[in-house]
Amino acid sequence: MKKIVTIVGARPQFIKAAALNRVFRRDYSNAIIEDIVHTGQHYDDAMSEVFFREMDIAPPHAHFSVGSGSHGVQTGKMMIELEQYLLAEVPDAVLVYGDTNTTMAGALVAAKCNIPVIHVEAGLRSYSRTMPEEINRIVTDHLSTLLFSPTLQGVENLESEGMKVQLGPYHAAHPGVFQCGDVMYDNALHYGKLDHLHPSVQKWKDQSFVLTTIHRDHNTDDPKVLYTLLETLIHLTRQHQLQWVLPVHPRLKKNMEANADIQNLLRDAEHVHLIEPLGYVAMLQLEQMATMIVTDSGGVQKEAYFAQKPCLILRDTTEWKEIIATGNAFLVGANAEKIKEKFEYCMQNKMNHWPLLYGDGSAAEQIARVIFEFLA
Ligand code: UD1
Ligand code: UDP
Repeated sequence: MKKIVTIVGARPQFIKAAALNRVFRRDYSNAIIEDIVHTGQHYDDAMSEVFFREMDIAPPHAHFSVGSGSHGVQTGKMMIELEQYLLAEVPDAVLVYGDTNTTMAGALVAAKCNIPVIHVEAGLRSYSRTMPEEINRIVTDHLSTLLFSPTLQGVENLESEGMKVQLGPYHAAHPGVFQCGDVMYDNALHYGKLDHLHPSVQKWKDQSFVLTTIHRDHNTDDPKVLYTLLETLIHLTRQHQLQWVLPVHPRLKKNMEANADIQNLLRDAEHVHLIEPLGYVAMLQLEQMATMIVTDSGGVQKEAYFAQKPCLILRDTTEWKEIIATGNAFLVGANAEKIKEKFEYCMQNKMNHWPLLYGDGSAAEQIARVIFEFLA
């Protein structure tokens, strides 16, 4: 038996990890043991445990309860815990997902312990180093032995940074970069059914609404930026007689509550519905029922595409450039004029060209096969 330690800690990582955990347990139980380690970066039930419960992810083998903090404090605490754990467990590989502080801490510690690093969702670049995620991605990719990119763009980004692309089956002489589709698409197909609506989204079934998530530091942490975003979108949704539904990330909650102007703004906005963060199944269902999605989330902008919904991306750049190229999503930043222009465009135009961009729903199977061959 070979052992993989999968390191997760933030909401999108639990979701991504579910896909491979499912395949390892189903198809490789005689060959691979996967131990999941939770750094504790996210800790509220609605940001963490709900995903393990609802998505049938194996419970964490270890949980480090690192919690919140500045980048250095949070990453440093994770590294101390992870080093001790990996030195004791001596796995054959460490698997990390995406671009959070948990991802980078896991990759750094594993690489220094001479344990091969496997990075799922490799190669993505926004080319904006003001994003902490961009730094995490670059470091993680350059420390990884197996890099699984969901997109051709990701593969090209890595090639341009000097990495070797591996086509076809794994060969020990050439560990490297693989294009494999997106485990998030696998998951959207697996969990995104509408036949049994989750109780928390029943009431939205026959409503017209815009669905929004906001959690990026550049949108939440500057009071003026956050005010502009909320004011603009409150106005637009009211004007179009749409409800506005926001499952509120704790970072957004903290910043809204600290701002008296925002509290005043929300007081008279009866069509605005601030709700707790949702579980994954409920979130996928709400995305499919929405008229339009407005988000700064990496995962949600892709899920808008999977659900064939127009999307305004509250960022100036994205690592998912292929969505923009289809003309179904728009980078609007926190710019009120751009938001208005593209909101109107989405309300007036029917979009009907949605080519498959993220594989065929078998990304986790492809990744597991390469990992199996690598470990063998
Ligand atoms: C992190 C990731 C980001 C990812 C996001 C997914 C980094 C640098 N950022 O951002 O890439 O898109 O997760 O959601 O790794 N908080 C709680 N309860 C929780 C978790 C957080 O109250 O369970 C609050 C704390 O006040 C904390 C703040 O949210 O300071 C931010 O949390 P943190 O994990 O540092 O960053 P995110 O903004 O969640
Ligand atoms: N998500 C969720 N409940 C919510 C908001 C988001 O389950 O209330 C899911 C969403 O469907 C997507 C993932 O969380 O699969 C995206 O994570 P997040 O936006 O926190 O981070 P990012 O993808 O931007 O790193």
